[in-house]
Amino acid sequence: MKYQEIKNSIFYCGLNDPERPFFDELVPLEQGTSYNSYLIKGSEKIALIDTMYPPKTEEYIKNLDENGIVKVDYIISNHGEQDHSGSIPTLLEKYPEAIVVTNSKCADNIYEMLLVPRERIQIIADKDKLSLGDKTLQFIFAPNVHWPDTMFTHVLEDNLLFTCDFLGAHQIFDDVWAKPSKELTRAAKRYYSEIMMPFRMLCKKYTKLIQEMKVDIICPSHGPIYNNPSDILDLYADWTADAPKNLVIIPYVSMYGSTKEMLDYVAKNLENKGIEVIKYDIINGDIGHYSVGLVDAATVLFGVSMILAGPHPAVTNIVNLTGILRPKTKAIAFVGSYGWAGKLFEPLINLLSNLKLSIIEPVQIKGRMKDDDYKN
Ligand code: FEO
Repeated sequence: MKYQEIKNSIFYCGLNDPERPFFDELVPLEQGTSYNSYLIKGSEKIALIDTMYPPKTEEYIKNLDENGIVKVDYIISNHGEQDHSGSIPTLLEKYPEAIVVTNSKCADNIYEMLLVPRERIQIIADKDKLSLGDKTLQFIFAPNVHWPDTMFTHVLEDNLLFTCDFLGAHQIFDDVWAKPSKELTRAAKRYYSEIMMPFRMLCKKYTKLIQEMKVDIICPSHGPIYNNPSDILDLYADWTADAPKNLVIIPYVSMYGSTKEMLDYVAKNLENKGIEVIKYDIINGDIGHYSVGLVDAATVLFGVSMILAGPHPAVTNIVNLTGILRPKTKAIAFVGSYGWAGKLFEPLINLLSNLKLSIIEPVQIKGRMKDDDYKN
């Protein structure tokens, strides 16, 4: 595969992985993902920006050979997670003169996870610069815009920013340039919800920082490249804003239809008041659809069936995930039906103790709704 040039001897050398079914063995990938890697040919030195997911290393190395890359001076590691750092050990064998350039946290990670020899790592500080001759790389630490080791790399002369996982999307592509579309917005929002939303305030801070930098091109680590940065930065400004939208998302499990009857009744009344509602069938749904809803939802209403004397474990899983994703949701409610005895909601409320939320008085009933239950 011939590398596509992005700008002035800066090339895309990443790969698509259309077959990958899940990310983090958790989130379904609708069309796989790309692992973006970049090659910069300076007048004096050659650098790679991030590398490759380990199972794709062979193909990645083959492409380097086919593109005539016989020498690499620097391997810039913007983040230690192995979908980007996984090929570093192989590259260090292939290019004996190469050194890894990264921050101290990432250096620890790639040593611990990949056994990258410490003597092959050059540690840089925030805002440090590295010359490739006619190009200068500047490193911008962005801790916890995903991992504590996350950093961005700015090519000063070309005003191009490698943003690591930030501003990415799980999308594959043939041409590197992002073409604004509903599909891309949806993929980027899904990615934000699953990976970045737990760090919303930092994402907000770094969105603003990049807006103020006025970079010309944004090169993330997954998904296409933006030559109109406002296409993705405007979306992030919206998603990371403090105010949620007047949207109620209703994840539910209903074994015999009684819990569904309850949440349908609530949903109908909300819609009659002009409030948008999204129901999410936990058993048959894609959790990416749920997490996208959480980006905007002011309220989550869980519909909970009982198994034995406690909440259905599939609901427990989704409530737990909600706590992990830390949405800007303001209020949580529960409705649920049971068969003989037990407590539906207490264990679930405990799972959300890390969120600042109003808990609306839950409604638990035995079997089907009766007159007073509608009122409650
Ligand atoms: Fe795409 Fe955090 O790795």
